[in-house]
Amino acid sequence: MTRSKGSLDSLVRRPRRNRKGVAVRSMVAETDLLPRNLVLPLFLIDGKEKREPIGAMPGVARFSIDLAIGEARKAFAVGIPSLALFPRIDDKKKDSFARESKNPDNLLLRAVREIKSAVPELSIITDVAMDPYSTDGHDGLVRDGQVVNDDTLPILAEMAVAKAKAGADWVAPSDMMDGRVGAIRRALDDGGYTDTSILSYCAKYASAFYGPFREALDSAPRSGDKKTYQMDPANRREAMREARLDIAEGADALMVKPALCYLDVVADFSRKFELPIAAYFVSGEYSMICAAAEKGWLDRRRALLESHLSVRRAGASIIFTYAALELAGWLNE
Ligand code: PBG
Repeated sequence: MTRSKGSLDSLVRRPRRNRKGVAVRSMVAETDLLPRNLVLPLFLIDGKEKREPIGAMPGVARFSIDLAIGEARKAFAVGIPSLALFPRIDDKKKDSFARESKNPDNLLLRAVREIKSAVPELSIITDVAMDPYSTDGHDGLVRDGQVVNDDTLPILAEMAVAKAKAGADWVAPSDMMDGRVGAIRRALDDGGYTDTSILSYCAKYASAFYGPFREALDSAPRSGDKKTYQMDPANRREAMREARLDIAEGADALMVKPALCYLDVVADFSRKFELPIAAYFVSGEYSMICAAAEKGWLDRRRALLESHLSVRRAGASIIFTYAALELAGWLNE
């Protein structure tokens, strides 16, 4: 049967009309990615004028504090509002209780103070977990080969208070112990730090994609894995349970981590909860795009922009990403 003129005319719904040119596409765009959505993670090392590139993360390096201040200034200049700081601790300063984390002159706390005084406009997010400081490389206290929950809580709470005291705007528990948000909130409030915010790594999955980060900080678990505390990648509904607990315990923002493999969870959180939603575009997610781009298999710029836009579309307003400076540069063009 040949198509009559009438049946062609009846094609009144033509979605392509809304894609017909740059101006129209930009009018109808539902989502945008802006520098203000980005958080720049920085790896810190001791020393002066030190910059050590990280093999598996092209374009990312560990910086001594003086050079980290330069990175902080760059972030501020391109409109990135926040930094997340991660120290690489010397092996000789590690112990099974992560005691170095409370030393007021440790690398991280010095960095918080110095970056705050150099670029006070930036908000500073500090991770709370034992792994960078622990000889066991686990996020909680290890006893008889087990990561024990309740005895870890006071250690995390003290770590958080030390960070607040140094001037961190946010503490971000990334350890996945039960009850840690509440324990940290009480300790902060008791210490008079009622304005220090908690960004909870709420749905943090036991993921293969943290590999390059653990290389960067030399923080891999010395034995076993993190599956007794980080979530099972099979679970979506369980993330809701974690979120409800963290909200009840006083979290100010909820994170999903990693980002790309867990966009369903990001979307669930943004639909169901009123708190700001963060997603962590983790080391392995960054590395895989870099590697494909280096081989010429992907266009680095387009792949990075599209994958971060997808995290926004799923509903996260805060994206931790190693590509923050590069993305902000493109977005500001
Ligand atoms: C520490 C922590 C990890 C990451 C952020 N905080 C590693 C882990 O849990 O093993 C991973 C970030 C990344 O891969 O980019 N608890």
